[in-house]
Amino acid sequence: MCGIVGMIGTQPVAPLLVDALKRLEYRGYDSAGVATLSNGQLDRRRAEGKLANLENQLLLSPLEGEIGIGHTRWATHGAPTQNNAHPHFCDGIAVVHNGIIENFSEIRDQLKARGADFSTETDTEVVAHLLASLVKNGMTPPEAMRATLNLIRGAYALAVMFRSEPDRIFCARNGPPLAVGHGSGEMFVGSDAIALSPFTDEITYLEDGDWAVVTHDGLEITNSEGAAVERPRSRAATTHAQVDKGNHKHFMEKEIYEQPEVISHTLAHYIDFSAATIRNVPAGMDFERIHSLKIAACGTAYFAGMIGKTWFERYARLPVEIDVASEFRYREMPLSENEAALVVSQSGETADTLASLRYCHDHGLKIGSIVNVRESTIARESDVVFPTLAGPEIGVASTKALSCQLAVFAALAIAAARARGTLATDEEQILIRALSEAPRIAGEVLNEIEPQMVELSREIARHTHVLYLGRGTNFTLAMEGALKLKEISYIHAEGYAAGELKHGPIALIDEHMPVIVIAPNDRYFEKTMSNMQEVAARGGRIIFITDRSGAAACDLPTLQTIILPDVHEMIAPLIFLLPVQLLAYHTAVFMGTDVDQPRNLAKSVTVE
Ligand code: AGP
Repeated sequence: MCGIVGMIGTQPVAPLLVDALKRLEYRGYDSAGVATLSNGQLDRRRAEGKLANLENQLLLSPLEGEIGIGHTRWATHGAPTQNNAHPHFCDGIAVVHNGIIENFSEIRDQLKARGADFSTETDTEVVAHLLASLVKNGMTPPEAMRATLNLIRGAYALAVMFRSEPDRIFCARNGPPLAVGHGSGEMFVGSDAIALSPFTDEITYLEDGDWAVVTHDGLEITNSEGAAVERPRSRAATTHAQVDKGNHKHFMEKEIYEQPEVISHTLAHYIDFSAATIRNVPAGMDFERIHSLKIAACGTAYFAGMIGKTWFERYARLPVEIDVASEFRYREMPLSENEAALVVSQSGETADTLASLRYCHDHGLKIGSIVNVRESTIARESDVVFPTLAGPEIGVASTKALSCQLAVFAALAIAAARARGTLATDEEQILIRALSEAPRIAGEVLNEIEPQMVELSREIARHTHVLYLGRGTNFTLAMEGALKLKEISYIHAEGYAAGELKHGPIALIDEHMPVIVIAPNDRYFEKTMSNMQEVAARGGRIIFITDRSGAAACDLPTLQTIILPDVHEMIAPLIFLLPVQLLAYHTAVFMGTDVDQPRNLAKSVTVE
């Protein structure tokens, strides 16, 4: 979604605002702009497309001023044009906004009836006009800010400058996150700590309903009841260095190759491998007491939850229901306090996942969350947080976050099995030993299969449709592989349960359809081989991802066979995930799409 930055500094802020916006590019955007206040005058530069276009404008026509706001826009209302780009102006007021003002059209009609002249298609412009009309009617900027926040409905993070207030930035948060950074004699505002990482790591996060006045020396926060409040000031976990590509071409490539390391960090947080015991599972999530678990997540995080469900049910005999978060709360499922909820989210800000958390909270469930951003809204509203230690994930396509989410689920499944007495000690030791080998094997696999995946990507890039098949956790990987391919290469792809082939998808099979079959030699192997026979018999072009014993057992003709090591079934998803990630990545690179910021996508979907 959109990115917001603001600065009250002691030097020209326009180039610094652009630097901060660059650190928000990973969120996805289609236009950008900055505004500054200098000598009582507001001025702005805005550009369609990438930040380089905005930089060119600033080179040609620099902006003065030591106070400013900036924005990267991901279009929701109105096309991604320069005119619709933020900041939006009205009578000496400048506004940048992330989110959706749900009642913007009725407010716009009311303002138009009073003579307001709108120049954009955006919901945000309504905020600028509303503030201006209130100031015109005699309110001070703080009064106008408070009144406006009482009038608008929806999700918003806002930063506002008033021409009459040369030393103050006003900001507000209701939904999408907003961070205030503390400098020495200068202050910063940003959508997250990453945006502010070049300037400070001392961060205060506003809570929903808060609005604040930021000056050179600090901030004054007012909560939704109108009371002055203090919010914690913490040191951000994100450092300046962690958000660079290093020697990789794309963040996604870097993050794929970071997986062995971050899987290891995450596993080590939950497993004492020397004592072969689970740790850091707070008592707040009492697996012995709860009768069942509800999991809600979106996209790739949902696929992590599907595999987590398999492990909780297989090893801990704990019944699990899982829904995509956008469906979860509307299903109106019966909930009881004997259940617990576990939400999964890399960003910790996904609107539907947060709404699912709040739904479960309202029904009295204990809430756990598996998140990659510890200071995120979902983490702050959970009873128990299970962090992934993936480090900042910048590429819009989630990779290392998924493998770390799987690592957390594996540890939690073992912890639940121990609490429920469903796993013998020797079986538990086998699982822990298998997990201890996962980082090493993942590193070996990434290096071994890279040339093969590059070659295969050229073949896949020639097609417009691809079918992925698998059974059990490989069915989930089939869906994740299809999601990766479509979201970064724009090739249509579907992941299907191999056992469902005869119930429809087999109609798609001919010599033009690549069929990627994910099938280690596990409990489903024989049945998946039958499905491969059905595909081969119709001329389907099979790409077979298997292990050594699976390759030895298969005599079917394939376009390519990718052979991975034979591994324990618990770590198979961590290993068989790698070829589908690399295939999507290299296909997208070959096709020349914007791998780290694919079209239409955002890293964190903070609106429903
Ligand atoms: C995955 O590659 C996508 N970028 C997307 O499906 C993502 O997983 C989903 O939006 C959930 O995001 P979250 O983990 O930050 O909640």
